[in-house]
Amino acid sequence: MLVLGIETSCDETGIAVVEDRTVRSNIITAQIDLHARFGGVVPELASRAHVMTITPAIEQALDEAGVTRKDLEGVAVTIGPGLIGCLLVGVATAKATAATLDIPLIGVNHLEGHIEAAFLEDPTLEPPVLALIVSGGHTMIAAMREHGSFEVLGQTIDDAAGEAFDKIARFMGLGFPGGPAIDKLAADGRADAYRFPRAMLHEPNLDFSFSGLKTAVIRWMREREALGEAIDAADLAASFQEAIVDVQIAKTFKAAEQTGIDTVVLAGGVAANSRLRARMLDEGEKRGLRVVVPRVSLCTDNGAMIAAAGIRRLADGQRTPLDIGADPSLLLG
Ligand code: KG4
Ligand code: ZN
Repeated sequence: MLVLGIETSCDETGIAVVEDRTVRSNIITAQIDLHARFGGVVPELASRAHVMTITPAIEQALDEAGVTRKDLEGVAVTIGPGLIGCLLVGVATAKATAATLDIPLIGVNHLEGHIEAAFLEDPTLEPPVLALIVSGGHTMIAAMREHGSFEVLGQTIDDAAGEAFDKIARFMGLGFPGGPAIDKLAADGRADAYRFPRAMLHEPNLDFSFSGLKTAVIRWMREREALGEAIDAADLAASFQEAIVDVQIAKTFKAAEQTGIDTVVLAGGVAANSRLRARMLDEGEKRGLRVVVPRVSLCTDNGAMIAAAGIRRLADGQRTPLDIGADPSLLLG
């Protein structure tokens, strides 16, 4: 089945053409320059930028896939969670495309899309899988026992992991988005240089908390500055990153133990983090578990993951009516 995937939940216009489990094209138009000077995504600017980029991105995606509109067998679009104005640009475009081509429309949960990226990365993968979903807005562990069915086993009680990366990067003067900047800087630093708290690490539940870590790092930086002591930025980045990764690894593999699910998939924008990717694969190998880490272009927001989730649901006979709206706080499952 050949499906157009549309993702506009935040600041990336993601348009892709996917055929079954093969990515034919995956166009991602980022808006970094637009938001950088504000230090974060400005919703109104983001939705206006989606309006400008979405049509050319669709043309490019069809072109690169070597198909035309009449080859499409469905349109999949993110309906939430995300920024309402941004979501509505994608949803309106998807509805118009489906209506004019007389093909089915399918609305997709953004988080389900992130998990489905793993099935594009490894076409032999089958549920059940355990997913660590880490993004700018979410940090959760979910069990997917079959496609489209999810049980959230734990989640952050305050900040998302990506949010913590972005806030500390901002405090360090590394700009926006912060995750990739910390990742890059940390490559030259020592992860054991400074010891920061690992909240909830030893608690039996599968929840996370990152706001204490953020406060601890900021307080520590201020104290150092007040004492006139130099801070090694690379060591700081590596030590902070390690604190986040330690908790994510521990909780994910605790969930694998508790559920008996022996396949772990990494999902969401923070899954682009090189340290998290390496530690996930290592830990999986040590424990004899299968770990799937999608390529970076399938981890950060993209249309291919939405098309993949849509193909599942369309093949299942599901359809979304053309009067669907968007839900900024849509839950998984
Ligand atoms: O999934 P995503 O693209 O958008 C949301 O749905 O939120 O995730 C964006 C988040 C941002 O917080 C960004 O800083 C983070 O993912 N991120 C990273 C890396 N690349 C992106 N965090 C750590 N290391 C990275 N390499
Ligand atoms: Zn995302």
